[in-house]
Amino acid sequence: MSERCRILIVYYSRTGTTRRDAELLASGLDADIEPIRERGGPQPRNGARGFVRSLMDALCHRHAEVMPALLDVAAYDLVVVGAPVWARGACAPARAWLELHGPQVRRLALFCCEGAFGGKEALKQMSEAAGKVPLATCVFTGSDLYRCKDGVKRDAFAQKIRSRMAARREMEWLV
Ligand SMILES: Cc1cc2nc3c(=O)[nH]c(=O)nc-3n(C[C@H](O)[C@H](O)[C@H](O)COP(=O)(O)O)c2cc1C
Repeated sequence: MSERCRILIVYYSRTGTTRRDAELLASGLDADIEPIRERGGPQPRNGARGFVRSLMDALCHRHAEVMPALLDVAAYDLVVVGAPVWARGACAPARAWLELHGPQVRRLALFCCEGAFGGKEALKQMSEAAGKVPLATCVFTGSDLYRCKDGVKRDAFAQKIRSRMAARREMEWLV
């Protein structure tokens, strides 16, 4: 029971908001962290052209090409995936990563960063892409950031993850 739970945080971030939450979560949960990398590098999503391309990818449900994870996803007890909301849904690179690595994920938790709306649908799409029901989810909004409430949400999310992982491990010990 005292064995440390191995957690991996994986995130996609175009402008840094999701990266910040992912990094703070990783330090709070003592987790490893890895960004989702698209084939061809991050440049194609920079600036106004990158915004339009990202929007079209999301609206047309276009597939993004992502690189396989560098870390061994299957070696972790829990993988937490974070992504920004695009066009009221999950961003294309996160969907692609979850489709690629979902089968290797033992337990999944999800979070997303939205301006104001679409987080619930994004989480649903991410869960479907992975083919797994998440054990905990969280939506960070622009207003959370603006009002400095994201820290409280992040702590609650981390706490939920810890207690649900502890409960699952206890169950596994009993059977
Ligand atoms: C192409 C695109 C579409 C977006 N669509 C939405 C949306 O539907 N709803 C929303 O609340 N925010 C939307 N946003 C805003 C981002 O979800 C939000 O700014 C997020 O925090 C960005 O995270 P990042 O900095 O990690 O990329 C969109 C951003 C982009 C680039």
